[in-house]
Amino acid sequence: MIQVGILGCGAIGQAIAKAIEKKFSKFMCVSSVCDCNPAQIKSIKNLLKFSKPAALSWDKLVAKSDLVIEAASIEAARQAIPAALKLGKSIIVLSTGAILKIRNFRTLIKKSQGSIYLPSGALSGVDAVLGAGIDGIQRARITTRKPIKSLKDSPFFMRHRDLLKKIRKPTLIFKGTALQAVKEFPENINVAATLSLAGIGPRKTRVHVYASPTYKENRHEISVVGQFGKIACQTTNFPSKRNPKTSRLAIGSAIATLSKVLSRVKIGT
Ligand SMILES: NC(=O)c1ccc[n+]([C@@H]2O[C@H](COP(=O)([O-])OP(=O)(O)OC[C@H]3O[C@@H](n4cnc5c(N)ncnc54)[C@H](O)[C@@H]3O)[C@@H](O)[C@H]2O)c1
Repeated sequence: MIQVGILGCGAIGQAIAKAIEKKFSKFMCVSSVCDCNPAQIKSIKNLLKFSKPAALSWDKLVAKSDLVIEAASIEAARQAIPAALKLGKSIIVLSTGAILKIRNFRTLIKKSQGSIYLPSGALSGVDAVLGAGIDGIQRARITTRKPIKSLKDSPFFMRHRDLLKKIRKPTLIFKGTALQAVKEFPENINVAATLSLAGIGPRKTRVHVYASPTYKENRHEISVVGQFGKIACQTTNFPSKRNPKTSRLAIGSAIATLSKVLSRVKIGT
């Protein structure tokens, strides 16, 4: 039985915990959970009918788990990824922007017996980008459109409070690299990090962010050009009820990644 530790018990963590009991209970159980908010721990424990997970600190959770599922924040992932890899554990990471902040990531991976899984999350086309990378990619860009209220607590809007009231219609608020985008919108732009890791890296992947009070959905468009041809792909995401910053598709993608880890039929690149 695979002992799963869930780090971050919010919208994604709770949905994964539920899916483990409903779909994967033959193979795995939620043995530990960690969250800096005790109410979230209570809520995830109440959700589980069969498992009685221990509430642990993040480092103990990593040490006790066979598989860690990170669904907390870039800061939490930044600590948990190196710890898990050093102990040879496997980890599924939702806060993929963290990888851009771990300086010795490639060395860590080389030395580790563990694996790291990065779900495509709220983005479609990641499998095609991986395939395209084999022949060589020349350009990659992601354009993200989000309701302004889901971006309001970002470092970008903390510096530009005046813009919050001024923006009335779809407005291009950011143009830069994936590396810069993750710094400006750490809770909103993991998709840019994922695209960059699948493709030509965080310094070459371009990111445009549009915000508007008129947007009701989170939309991501990717455009990739290479020897293979062109990818133009659009995903329109409904927000999760529990956390409007998170798309419902990201939850589905995390659960599908778990299924891929377990399944003997692995579909997609
Ligand atoms: N890859 C993608 O496409 C994608 C899509 C959506 C969300 N995400 C990311 O996944 C993560 C989880 O998303 P969510 O919607 O479940 O968020 P959420 O806010 O609903 O839940 C996150 C939980 O983690 C806890 N937490 C945060 N930092 C922590 C820390 N350092 N230690 C312990 N607990 C901590 C919070 O208290 C909260 O309960 C976020 O980082 C989010 O940005 C990625």
